[in-house]
Amino acid sequence: MTILVTGGAGYIGSHTCVELLNEGYEVVVADNYYNSVPAVLDRVEKITGKTLKRYNCDIRDRNGLKKIFSENTIDAVIHFAGLKAVGESTRLPLMYYENNISGSVVLFEEMAQAGCKKIVFSSSATVYGNNPIPYKEDMVTGDVSSPYGRTKHFIEQILGDVYKSDNEWSISLLRYFNPIGAHESGLIGEDPNGIPNNLMPYISRVAIGKLPQLTVFGGDYDTKDGTCIRDYIHVVDLAKAHLCAVAKILGTTGIEAYNIGNGKGYSVLDIITAFEKASGKKLNYIIGDRREGDLPAFYADASKANTQLDWHAQYDIDKMCEDTWNFQTKNPDGIK
Ligand code: NAD
Ligand code: UD1
Repeated sequence: MTILVTGGAGYIGSHTCVELLNEGYEVVVADNYYNSVPAVLDRVEKITGKTLKRYNCDIRDRNGLKKIFSENTIDAVIHFAGLKAVGESTRLPLMYYENNISGSVVLFEEMAQAGCKKIVFSSSATVYGNNPIPYKEDMVTGDVSSPYGRTKHFIEQILGDVYKSDNEWSISLLRYFNPIGAHESGLIGEDPNGIPNNLMPYISRVAIGKLPQLTVFGGDYDTKDGTCIRDYIHVVDLAKAHLCAVAKILGTTGIEAYNIGNGKGYSVLDIITAFEKASGKKLNYIIGDRREGDLPAFYADASKANTQLDWHAQYDIDKMCEDTWNFQTKNPDGIK
């Protein structure tokens, strides 16, 4: 079985390539390296002792995709390629709509053209917006606070219309909660350009001394310690969810959404404490103002993925912090 992984050199994509190769799949990666480097794929090969096929291809490049589908028999696609910085998306919405939505439409057209109608799509818990917690898949979605989030919602809707128009499609929408952690080899992990926006990469750069201080965004929320609650999920658990979803779509048709989270909420202060334990470092932080657009608390009801995909998260918050720190210390200057 051959899987095309768009965005396969990125954070979640690279961990998923490792799991696919370990499971015996043939892997073809299409990435334009906008937010990654080809060396990540060398490291995937090093971890697994297997090779993958790679194309420097932008998913908006129709001819590039045609070449991939003509040179390979693709059984299914896992679609990670996209831009993901929430703040940047409010400043540059058209860039996000063009890259994420136009790119996805070109990809879906070329899949249909090639007769490949099986796809796992990287969606996000952000599609739930302001719903009661825990979030469940049958809640109304779309009340999202950023252009980035809207691209995820729109692409889910587009795939819904694709399925309605052609019931041969098999589509899995994976709504990720907050992925953190790294492969335990320390060879691959999250390696954002510039100053990180997300909590975990920010914390690990403070711990290693590359940033002076973490600002906790808000200490006056109506939560157990006043800081926001999120559902953090180890990236390797998340990667494994893709294998479960691929196994499912290969044998069925239809469209289903699944929450991929631990089902547990941790506060920002919980994460700081766990990270201090894992790293043995005291973290320099202050409590600052709330960040616009942040919800006080959300976490998943992941029972649908547990029962229908037979997927279960294995790793706890301590392991997530240990693996992040291991990656950070082994790659103080990122992956070159
Ligand atoms: P990432 O930026 O590390 O990986 C995305 C990859 O896609 C990168 O390698 C990038 O170079 C590539 N890419 C971007 N635009 C492309 C294009 N037009 N053509 C080809 N390649 C392109 O991000 P990630 O954290 O691995 O996220 C993967 C997917 O999961 C994204 O779609 C993201 O929106 C989604 N997601 C991520 C999170 C998260 O917290 N990391 C949460 C929910 C959903
Ligand atoms: C954000 C996005 C979500 C996206 C996810 C991963 C919003 C509303 N949601 O989730 O769509 O899928 O990133 O890219 O933007 N925090 C601090 N200090 C920091 C950074 C973060 O206190 O320097 C806090 C935040 O307030 C939040 C928690 O840490 O409570 C997690 O933040 P982050 O990692 O950015 O993820 P989300 O905001 O949950």
